[in-house]
Amino acid sequence: MAGSTEKTTTPETPSGGGEGPADPRAPVTLLFDEAEIARRVGALAPEISRAIADGFTIVALLKGAFVFVADLVRALDGVGRHPRVEFITLSSYGRGRESAGTVRLIGELPAGVAGRAVLLVDDVADTGRSLAFARDLLLGQGAARIWICALVDKPSRREVEIAVDFTGFTVGDRFVVGYGIDYAERYRHLPYIGPLT
Ligand code: IMP
Ligand code: MG
Repeated sequence: MAGSTEKTTTPETPSGGGEGPADPRAPVTLLFDEAEIARRVGALAPEISRAIADGFTIVALLKGAFVFVADLVRALDGVGRHPRVEFITLSSYGRGRESAGTVRLIGELPAGVAGRAVLLVDDVADTGRSLAFARDLLLGQGAARIWICALVDKPSRREVEIAVDFTGFTVGDRFVVGYGIDYAERYRHLPYIGPLT
């Protein structure tokens, strides 16, 4: 795992901000900065391209995976992979930090996954319930084979069996935000990832 030295940063701080934390409502500790995320996403693309032939479909989970998948598809283009991209929305967390335990599909099923290789992409693999639910949903839609990619994996939190084939970063039992990952719909815009303090 990346051995970043953690330092406290103040997101939503206007540049040239004054003394102390400009926004005490949003203290986030920097864990993976922009450059480190870019390097890791850049390294995931060849890992994925070695494992999956061209012609697969990415199914990304909204909303958390939206930033990650946007960077990932462009990195994949650089290694000769041109996946289709579909999104599905699941719900389980509401506004809290702990899983409500039940996962639901909100809205449409993904189009055109029948018979195709699928790379299922999420922001965080936590208990594993969301990814297991999505995996089973896609298998039910006739996906030929499914690989799972999580930007952040928290293996110590697992409650449901899932095989994460590609991992951006592994973290312990901590709640992180940024780079698409939210807490109560906030902090998705941060270009870095870190725990709320
Ligand atoms: P799981 O179903 O328990 O694996 O949870 C997966 C979902 O919970 C992810 O898609 C995230 O939306 C959310 N989640 C889990 N851990 C975190 C976290 O540390 N920060 C923000 N969201 C999280
Ligand atoms: Mg999510």
